[in-house]
Amino acid sequence: MSLWNGRFRSGTDQRAALYSASIDFDKRLYKQDIEGSIAHAEMLVEADVITSEEAEMIKKSLRDIETRIEKGVFQFDHQLEDIHMNIEQALINDIGEVGAKLHSGRSRNDQIATDERLYLREANDRLSQSLQDLQTALFSAAERFQHLILPGFTHLQHAQPVPLAHHLLAYVEMFERDRQRLTDTRQRINVLPLGSGALAGSTLPLNRQTVADKLGFDSLSRNSMDAVSDRDYIIETLSALAIIAMHCSRLAEDIIIWASQEFAFIELDDAFCTGSSLMPQKKNPDLAELSRGKTGRVYGALVGALTLMKGLPMTYNRDLQEDKEGLFDALDTVGSTLEILAPMISSARFNGNRMREAAQDPALMATDLAEWLVNRKVPFREAHRQVGRLVGYCREKGRPLNRITLEEMRLIIPSAEEECLNLFDPQSSIDRRDLPGGAAMSQVQSQLRFWRQKLT
Ligand code: ARG
Repeated sequence: MSLWNGRFRSGTDQRAALYSASIDFDKRLYKQDIEGSIAHAEMLVEADVITSEEAEMIKKSLRDIETRIEKGVFQFDHQLEDIHMNIEQALINDIGEVGAKLHSGRSRNDQIATDERLYLREANDRLSQSLQDLQTALFSAAERFQHLILPGFTHLQHAQPVPLAHHLLAYVEMFERDRQRLTDTRQRINVLPLGSGALAGSTLPLNRQTVADKLGFDSLSRNSMDAVSDRDYIIETLSALAIIAMHCSRLAEDIIIWASQEFAFIELDDAFCTGSSLMPQKKNPDLAELSRGKTGRVYGALVGALTLMKGLPMTYNRDLQEDKEGLFDALDTVGSTLEILAPMISSARFNGNRMREAAQDPALMATDLAEWLVNRKVPFREAHRQVGRLVGYCREKGRPLNRITLEEMRLIIPSAEEECLNLFDPQSSIDRRDLPGGAAMSQVQSQLRFWRQKLT
């Protein structure tokens, strides 16, 4: 038996029923479905469609169904397709005719959009919190290890020395923009579609504002056709998730590189590593690798959703049922990635000596010498060329930049002075970059102050 088979002469083919059922994955919307139904029932009293006693019966039964689902004793049925009809049928089994009144003025088309928006609103808030937890972990490490310096890289080549805190806080910035994207998306999620009916609204005197108030929606959808047919709130969420996953993946990649024997900048806690089943000596950064690897499926979900939508004529099409699995998977994946990375960072040990050693190479301060010349009015391009030649000379002689005499330096850089020989200390090099956003400790201190205020 189905809730819609009035005009049908035969039942659904078993295979067809299984193929079209979404209950296996949309049952996770049960809470939102029940909240939406309760708000709808209460409003139906105001619209004079049901009595308040009937609304009470409906509410009581729905709460009972909710408890049964939570206890794991509710029997989901594929023949009933989805979460909406599974719950509605249970309600009718429970309280008969009164239960059969609940769906007045409502379609599964506006119901599913409402459930999804309610679900995403919560998921959005949870993600935002997890992002903040990861930011806090990164910030705390930055604060704890603020005296450490390491080489900054471009092209994965040693570039210029930077404080570890500067590097870690760069990720805090990325995750801040991710949170802003979520907050921004949330405004567009929090619009009530219920009352749009199948596509054109309802002839019943429904009070949509009442429903919106009860469910905490900020506004009502302005166009019923738009409300039941678009899924851009899912696509926006997925695109925010894809960007978060990308940022997590980059952080994971840095961790993986830093944990390698070649770098040895970081040692991950045993709790966030695994061993090799063959090589007894191995300690692998698998969790970081998985966070990098899982990024692919999040992108997949985004591309899947965009592709799902691109050819759909107005308004609701059953294709839309395919919007859920990728979304849920992406939400779970990104949520658990954030939850793994935070403690992985908090428990990691940073190897200050290795980092400092790597930052000692005077070649990292070549730019400082070029800029010293610029301060003496040498055109930058000329300064760059001269310092480049000096670097080549030192390479040929097999001597580091800080091991040559002023006379040798002057052969290549005529305006060089004694002072130039003292430009090769990484810590002072860092401190010379004292402009907003720069790597100087004083600037990093002000970043730390900013985040301390913001995150606590
Ligand atoms: N399970 C459906 C979905 O997820 C609910 C809406 C179905 N509406 C319909 N007219 N068949 O999209």
